[in-house]
Amino acid sequence: MIIVQDGCFALQTPHTSYIFRKDAAGNLLHLYYGEKIEIEEEGLAKVCEIMAPVITNQNGCSLIADTAQPNLCLDDVCLEISSRGKGDMREPYVELVLADGSSTSDFRYENYRIEESLLTPEGLPGAYEEKGNGQSLVITLADRNSKVKLELVYGVMEDCDCLVRYGRLVNSGEETVTVNRLMSMQLDMEAGVLKITDFHGDWAREMAKNETILRQGKYVNDTSVGFSSNRANPLFIWADTETTQEYGDCYAVNLLYSGNHRESAQAGGHGKMRILAGMNPDYLCWQLEAGEAFCSPQAVLTYSHQGYQGVSGQLHYFVREHIVRGEWKHKERPILINSWEAMYFDVQEKKILKLARTAANAGMELFVLDDGWFGKRNSDASSLGDWYDNKEKLPTGLAGLSEKIHKLGLKFGIWVEPEMVSEDSDLYRKHPDWAVRIPGQEHALGRNQMVLDLTREEVRNYIIESMSDVFSRGKVDYVKWDMNRSITECYSVALPSDRQGEVFHRYILGVYDLYERLTSEFPEVLFESCSSGGGRFDPGMLYYAPQGWTSDDSDAIERLKIQYGTSLCYPISSMGSHVSVIPNHQVFRKTPLHTRANVAYFGTFGYELDVTKIPEEDRNVIASQVETYKK
Ligand code: GLA
Repeated sequence: MIIVQDGCFALQTPHTSYIFRKDAAGNLLHLYYGEKIEIEEEGLAKVCEIMAPVITNQNGCSLIADTAQPNLCLDDVCLEISSRGKGDMREPYVELVLADGSSTSDFRYENYRIEESLLTPEGLPGAYEEKGNGQSLVITLADRNSKVKLELVYGVMEDCDCLVRYGRLVNSGEETVTVNRLMSMQLDMEAGVLKITDFHGDWAREMAKNETILRQGKYVNDTSVGFSSNRANPLFIWADTETTQEYGDCYAVNLLYSGNHRESAQAGGHGKMRILAGMNPDYLCWQLEAGEAFCSPQAVLTYSHQGYQGVSGQLHYFVREHIVRGEWKHKERPILINSWEAMYFDVQEKKILKLARTAANAGMELFVLDDGWFGKRNSDASSLGDWYDNKEKLPTGLAGLSEKIHKLGLKFGIWVEPEMVSEDSDLYRKHPDWAVRIPGQEHALGRNQMVLDLTREEVRNYIIESMSDVFSRGKVDYVKWDMNRSITECYSVALPSDRQGEVFHRYILGVYDLYERLTSEFPEVLFESCSSGGGRFDPGMLYYAPQGWTSDDSDAIERLKIQYGTSLCYPISSMGSHVSVIPNHQVFRKTPLHTRANVAYFGTFGYELDVTKIPEEDRNVIASQVETYKK
């Protein structure tokens, strides 16, 4: 519920209240976010009056931005949003450079409106309510130094005690303005000390929980690799140092965004903390032309007084009910057998069918043909972009194989890596300029491949055409959409020099365009996202692909940590987890078959080993595990 009275605003969910107000000069003061305060509609102004900071004198370093407010130093109060140049010395929410080179903004309240639907940022994923329910509050602020307006858009998700937020800049002037940052969320709090929990890692060691006590200075969690990354997930949790699993104040923010992101906590000198989350501003420089608008990605924000578990449950519910869409939202996910660790690039129809038959006999439901089936793909050295059948490996092509798999009573799934091109590929030979790289400079290769320039429409159209063809000719029921390298030498030959700072963000907008078009064209297909394991595991991806491959590390004991970290925000229905062979291929550990299943049960379950080459006894155990999971 949204309550408004005399420039005071309250966003109410069953267990939380979020309250802010405008002051006499039009600054937005943040007053409260936490356990619910029951407020009558006519009582909000009174509540805000009680909560408003009492400022009687300035400290020795105070800066007064507005003589109409001689006691107000922006640095000393909790603000709803902040900008550079007017005396708030903390990290800002928005940063613009005007045509004259100046970079001071002074956003003041202009008006508000309430919409009876959940608004979402254009071109980006957005939380939704079934049947068009939901309410949004839009606060418009106007910059005193330019003709730029800033809309703060809030949505209230009652059933999970979550708020969603994003910002929208509108350039109503005649000159282009440079956007150097527009975060998704700012939250200023009265707090001297916080415990921050975030999730770091690398390949095969994703979502390692990391705790930091912040008393002074700034703590930053960010990434610059071009996607949300296995290095730093956008999930950011903060709490009292005393908060436990089940008790105490706990807050979290996550982003519906799969690109470079940044979350920070900054301790102010007067017992205040500022939390910011959004696109990583270090890699954003956007030219906002006259008449254009620019949105930041949506952030989801939640609070619970029931500790980490409260926040975790609320975020699970949010992802399950308000992010994951389409046919597979509430449908039982098929138990799969994946060919990767069973045969790597050496896929052959005969072997595939033998594996599929054995898996079907054990009760599995979906066969996933992983890498190696297309072009001349015998290793990771070639063929990405050449999405035609390798007839030596699949004599009857995808079409024939799919038919045979379906005849075994299994669904058929396929691996693709649509965003990439190998240097050794027909596609690259034909369109070398389609790769992200700086002309005339050497280019770093990752896994022998380059990233396609998704800022370009013709490149996206090629991908759509080739993927539509793969999905249709293979009559696929499932797609594993992989993405295996970071963006380096970030540059697009299709954009002018002053727009190169837009490439990272435009790339992700391109990814979303591809996903949107392909998931709409193939609504019945189950998509699983992957990025060298869990390198792009975020709510933005889950908006399109209801499940993600949690990690390339399939060792049961390593997986305990990885799945535990992931499960703090992401529901188990979103976490791909498979039983693999021993000794494990990543860490060479031997674990009993029942341990491997006990861990893999806590996700979208499957097997990723050659079940034709294990003892009969183990095959029987596997059949009973499949049965257990189905129950
Ligand atoms: C990535 C994925 C793996 C597998 C390989 C195929 O590493 O994370 O699961 O699909 O690519 O090349």
